[in-house]
Amino acid sequence: MFDEEHSAEVVAASFAGTPDPRLREILTALVRHTHAFVKDVGLTGEEWAAGVRFLTATGHTCDDVRQEFILLSDVLGVSMLVETIGNRAVGGSTESTVEGPFHQVASPVRALGDSIDLVGDGEPCLVTGQVHDGDGGPVPGAAVDVWQADAEGFYDVQRPGEVPPRNLRGLFTADAEGRFWFRTVVPRFYPIPTDGPVGELLRAAGRHPYRAAHIHVQVSAPGVRTLTTHLFVDGSPYLDSDAVFGVKESLVREFVTVDDPRRAERHGMPNPFRHVDFPIVVRRDGGG
Ligand code: BEZ
Ligand code: FE
Repeated sequence: MFDEEHSAEVVAASFAGTPDPRLREILTALVRHTHAFVKDVGLTGEEWAAGVRFLTATGHTCDDVRQEFILLSDVLGVSMLVETIGNRAVGGSTESTVEGPFHQVASPVRALGDSIDLVGDGEPCLVTGQVHDGDGGPVPGAAVDVWQADAEGFYDVQRPGEVPPRNLRGLFTADAEGRFWFRTVVPRFYPIPTDGPVGELLRAAGRHPYRAAHIHVQVSAPGVRTLTTHLFVDGSPYLDSDAVFGVKESLVREFVTVDDPRRAERHGMPNPFRHVDFPIVVRRDGGG
């Protein structure tokens, strides 16, 4: 029978007949941990009701483009934990991080060397890189999809009518040596959406909502595991307190200032400009 001492065992037993063994394992552990949590904090009826109201509001904030539950998972560090467990970096492969909610529109196809900045505000920046596999061989023709916030910390979808659609997004095809390069502006740090229940949670906890400045990069190619990661701007505020725990030290790169008119001209950049190089190592399918 159900009592305080045996609550978890009794409820877990009710799931013992779940035919799918993995679902059974998950439900059993969910019951065990939830009951331990309620006992640990001595959850009151009022607190339970506040939790239900919070989750209900979280659901009501979701629509076709906004996913407040994922944002909740993000600020609780659960998204990054799942991402990190599912993509443990092996053999020097590039570490992954969260995809985030702003990859909601497809990036326009761009040629190597193109600019993804359709506005012209911000510090001009050249991004270069090369995609390798774990054995050190190049990945020719890898698809390199990039998207980023602008110099004021906004994605194009947050400024409809103000900036051209697809600003600061591009889908590049690496050359025969796996190399890619494009022109952009240095992104700024920005706050995650705070006008919903997750924002309320952060305010109640005295936590800031900011993400360190970054460029999103997703690399795919036949026969390799798709890599979803970020390139973080060294020196950005919030590298040590990113609101969604997305920063990994190996992904932080110096955006070097280049003052060299001839190099600038060669790359179609104004002088001076910032330059960052991001070598990327992906894993072959089935390789570790
Ligand atoms: C982003 O980097 O675009 C992002 C990630 C998680 C939550 C909000 C934004
Ligand atoms: Fe982002």
